[in-house]
Amino acid sequence: MSRLRIFSEDNPDSPLLVANGQQYIVEQLTRIGVLFVKWQANAPLAPGATQDEVIAAYREDIEQIVAEKGFRTVDVVSIAPDNPNREAMRAKFLDEHFHKEDEVRFFVAGSGLFTLHVGSLVYEIKCEQGDLIGVPDSTKHWFDMGPSPYFIAIRFFTEPDGWVGHFTGTDMAQRFPRYEAGQAA
Ligand SMILES: [Fe+2]
Repeated sequence: MSRLRIFSEDNPDSPLLVANGQQYIVEQLTRIGVLFVKWQANAPLAPGATQDEVIAAYREDIEQIVAEKGFRTVDVVSIAPDNPNREAMRAKFLDEHFHKEDEVRFFVAGSGLFTLHVGSLVYEIKCEQGDLIGVPDSTKHWFDMGPSPYFIAIRFFTEPDGWVGHFTGTDMAQRFPRYEAGQAA
């Protein structure tokens, strides 16, 4: 089940709010400009599936969101727990950063943890199969796939060449909970 926890930025130990209900999560995230939509994700794919297999399985969904939002390219991240590069892949976006375009991900299998730092609050969002999340450009955030990553996510880009992480250099991400459990659902 997807989950939202909201913390004060100076208190990582006890959330101000914990929510599992889709509608409530959407309401909270809409306030900070974050897109969060539950889509059908029923194609029988396992992490490790190839990009071509994933795109073929979700072609209609991909075409719909590309047409609605004006994205120009898509690609696929598909990671199984035995991936030999998992530590490096996990480390890549584990510290607080932002991008100069929206970060849009459709989780078609498995799960991962997005954490957003907006004003004095920290929004931790456990994304699961069927969740489409759009983190607005310039929003500070980090992403944890956990030590045994298990997910497939379709990524949507408007400017793929410009999609880089700008790291803030803070220790925010180290102070907040990591994604340590429950990945291999
Ligand atoms: Fe990011």
